[in-house]
Amino acid sequence: MSNPRLDIDALIGDRETTIVVTCGAGGVGKTTTAAAIALRAADEGRTVAVLTIDPAKRLADSLGLPELGNTERRVDPALFEAAGIDTNGGELWAMMLDAKQTFDDLVDAHAPDAQTRDSVLANPIYRELSNAVAGSQEYMAMEKLHELHQEGRYDLLVLDTPPTRNALDFLDAPARLSRFIDSRSLQFFRAGSRAGLGLLGRGTAALFSAMKHATGVDLLEDLSRFFNAFGDMSEGFRERARRVDALLGDSRTTFLLVTSPRAASISEAAFFLHKLRDSDLPFGGAVVNRMREPIAARHTPALESELAGLLDEKVARKVLQNLDDHLRLADRDARNMALLRKELGRRPLIEVPELPGDVHDIAGLAAMNAYLFA
Ligand SMILES: Nc1ncnc2c1ncn2[C@@H]1O[C@H](COP(=O)(O)OP(=O)(O)O)[C@@H](O)[C@H]1O
Ligand SMILES: [Mg+2]
Repeated sequence: MSNPRLDIDALIGDRETTIVVTCGAGGVGKTTTAAAIALRAADEGRTVAVLTIDPAKRLADSLGLPELGNTERRVDPALFEAAGIDTNGGELWAMMLDAKQTFDDLVDAHAPDAQTRDSVLANPIYRELSNAVAGSQEYMAMEKLHELHQEGRYDLLVLDTPPTRNALDFLDAPARLSRFIDSRSLQFFRAGSRAGLGLLGRGTAALFSAMKHATGVDLLEDLSRFFNAFGDMSEGFRERARRVDALLGDSRTTFLLVTSPRAASISEAAFFLHKLRDSDLPFGGAVVNRMREPIAARHTPALESELAGLLDEKVARKVLQNLDDHLRLADRDARNMALLRKELGRRPLIEVPELPGDVHDIAGLAAMNAYLFA
């Protein structure tokens, strides 16, 4: 059984497509693929932004993303020229998401007045929460995507997804935040700190007051003030979460699954496929990255004697060892691919080989594109 070839050009060349999301397990090449696709779109004359979360440092450096920043930066056109790429007026922008900053911006946008905003931003509870709330990074990625989409400055947005343990967690992030806002604990704190204090039980109440006495921090007061202000913004957040959901499910969005042919990432890939299907999200196809390709050479007695005539014994042994390793790994990749094809059914896929070096600059991305857009 063979799958149709994943035609990313047809996806991104179709001006209807406005968002490409790369998802998959950690370390398979999501970030690299996202950057490579964005490069291609820019090369085709489009204005494209790639939103990335954890670029390898060398890739970030070579795209001119020296530090975390929550705004897009244009990748220097001189870098394209140096790599021999003519962008025909296309623009490549890149951004490394800063979840905390996005959260702050969101509070700023939803706060009814400056005083509420400042009180939330300065609140110690908020500061903890926005740094640490589970899924906040994922949520913020979605949020930023929505914001850029609204602005309408780009023809195409390529979203690289975060390296979460469960790599589609980010899809649930908006709902999780809404649930948190609606949660009983939040309502409880909104009810007012002193009344709440009574309900907490004597032990907890004593703890809060001992803490206030010892540290001067009135945690309960902080909690109450924070949740009151935050609660007032809840409808804004909820509405936003709904719009992010709609954006992801839109027919102009496409999810690409990136996987390696290793057994572990194939089984994660199968999980993602089910999850995408369950969530009714638009799936474009799979990119199987870092394939060790089958080669024609075979380890035969004839080859052994040929090498013995050409090389010194130790080197010949090493060459044969390398050949054996490659054949074994390529064979294993091929067997794993059969499993993936079964999961994919008739959905398209494309294979990208393991490239000789790390992919960390425009030239490397262009080398990857020779396969992604073969
Ligand atoms: N086809 C490939 N050949 C060789 N190296 C690759 C290839 N694809 C990705 N890499 C390298 O693998 C590493 C992980 O890739 P990355 O895109 O950061 O993965 P992810 O975002 O899925 O965690 C990077 O160092 C990248 O340069
Ligand atoms: Mg990554």
